[in-house]
Amino acid sequence: MSIVVTGATGLLGNLVIQHLLKKVPANQIVASVRNVEKASDLEKLGVEVRHGDYMDFESMKKSFDGASKLLFISSPDMDDTLRVRQHANVVQAARDAGAKHIAYTGYAFGEESKIPLALVHMATEYAIRTTGIPFTFLRNALYTEVFVNPGLGGAVERGELVTNAGTGVLNAVTRNDLALAAATALTEDGHVNNTYNLVNSEPWSFDKLAQVLTEVSGKKVVHRPVSYDEMKDYLINVGLPKPVVEMSAGIYQAVSEGETSRTSEDLQKLIGTPTSLEDLVKQALQA
Ligand SMILES: NC(=O)c1ccc[n+]([C@@H]2O[C@H](COP(=O)([O-])OP(=O)(O)OC[C@H]3O[C@@H](n4cnc5c(N)ncnc54)[C@H](OP(=O)(O)O)[C@@H]3O)[C@@H](O)[C@H]2O)c1
Repeated sequence: MSIVVTGATGLLGNLVIQHLLKKVPANQIVASVRNVEKASDLEKLGVEVRHGDYMDFESMKKSFDGASKLLFISSPDMDDTLRVRQHANVVQAARDAGAKHIAYTGYAFGEESKIPLALVHMATEYAIRTTGIPFTFLRNALYTEVFVNPGLGGAVERGELVTNAGTGVLNAVTRNDLALAAATALTEDGHVNNTYNLVNSEPWSFDKLAQVLTEVSGKKVVHRPVSYDEMKDYLINVGLPKPVVEMSAGIYQAVSEGETSRTSEDLQKLIGTPTSLEDLVKQALQA
């Protein structure tokens, strides 16, 4: 039995490996990485490290040799069309290497999403289906860390949290909880040909986040809702680069329009109760 994990030098992939190490012996885990030197810590833990680049079919195929399970972590490339090519390479390599099971980290409720990235994830799920290989679709929520991070210290100092998310709610989940869900699905029976929408069953609003910030910091913080254009001006004024400004305001806008409001019990069934917003805010403000 060997479980091959792609993107293992990334934040999510590394956490998946840490969780896998608690469930199976290290010699059953293989890290497929594009930069082998970056994976020396994994090697020290007894994980086999193989070179695999999403752009290079042969390297991917070799890295999947003998995979009884494969966790394919989606590419971080910003070019969605290129990303579809990379993903097709990975899927074809898994098929040709004879992988017995593919788990793929997609995007929650991708078929009804309005964000362009969802198309990449749905295309990849369909590509996996063309192989006939048993699959598990791990459709991840947005990462909570995108919203709850040490940057919130600034909101506490200013006494306000400014977003254009309005009263929209967010079903975000931490990378660590998503990694545990992936490691669980890879090591337990009963997940073949299932699709899981790994979202928080208790979505929270930015009003709620401001309330938790107030409770945790002891300093009054309010959520100040602004328009999309006001948000962009605000972020430019605090010195963020233009692409980050566009992306951030775009994500908040999607939240305001309900993109991240749907709930599901799928995550809870795999890992139990996800980490609470209170705990995450405490960690973020201590960092
Ligand atoms: N749900 C969300 O909110 C959210 C947010 C951002 C991203 N994502 C998606 O979730 C994935 C995992 O997230 P993450 O936080 O772990 O991202 P990350 O830390 O950026 O890790 C991405 C991983 O992909 C690897 N990679 C990049 N290009 C590659 C290539 N051509 N061939 C092989 N490997 C390649 C990287 O290798 P190097 O270490 O060599 O760079 C790294 O190991 C991302 O890649 C992205 O598709 C989701």
